[in-house]
Amino acid sequence: DYRAALFDLDGVIVDTAVHHFAAWRQTAAELGFSLADEDEELLKGVGRMDALRIVLGIGGVEVSEDEQQRLAAEKNARYVEAISTITPDEMLPGAREYLVSLRDRGVLTALGSASRNAPMILQRLEITDLFDAIIDGSVVSEAKPNPRVFLAGAEALGAAPADCVVFEDAIAGIQAAHAGGMIAVGIGEPEVLTEADVVIPGLHAAGSLSAQGIEFVGSR
Ligand code: BG6
Ligand code: MG
Repeated sequence: DYRAALFDLDGVIVDTAVHHFAAWRQTAAELGFSLADEDEELLKGVGRMDALRIVLGIGGVEVSEDEQQRLAAEKNARYVEAISTITPDEMLPGAREYLVSLRDRGVLTALGSASRNAPMILQRLEITDLFDAIIDGSVVSEAKPNPRVFLAGAEALGAAPADCVVFEDAIAGIQAAHAGGMIAVGIGEPEVLTEADVVIPGLHAAGSLSAQGIEFVGSR
């Protein structure tokens, strides 16, 4: 049985991935190329500067370090503007309910997100209190698939990696979980998240996990 649940934010708890991608599409457009729908998967879970480098690589564009900083700041300004009006209603189905049910059972919870905007989003969604630990892109700079963000979460909870289940929508995030010695529940489609131990369409379907051998036990 597992004692702790570690959650990615974007694409697991709230549907912000669409806003991240729209903001990057605008960056590409300014540089004179366009991103294909399939490119979105490559940008999920990776940190801001790494995502920029992926975008530039797709366009075959090279820019100076200063210009990279400017492009990333502009993208972030667009993203922050897009999410500035999100409300608790925009959480993904079942996310709040699942977090509350885990906590009611004494299961430890942590956020493990690459986003530096994570604390602000949690506040707007009014779910900051549902996490025992919050590890975001300002706390840990190593980007997924590096396991640091999840290892820091486990450490903050006082849990061993083998006690933790990671919930992730990104390929890089599932790889990060495994690199940290943790089991990974993919949120999305099995065809995309082929490396995940189990895939469910969303946290609304998390009730099916115990039938698949993933059971939590309280330890608070
Ligand atoms: C992740 C997203 O959660 O955060 C990525 O999946 C994003 O798409 C990353 O690049 C960094 O986010 P931010 O808000 O710090 O630019
Ligand atoms: Mg994500």
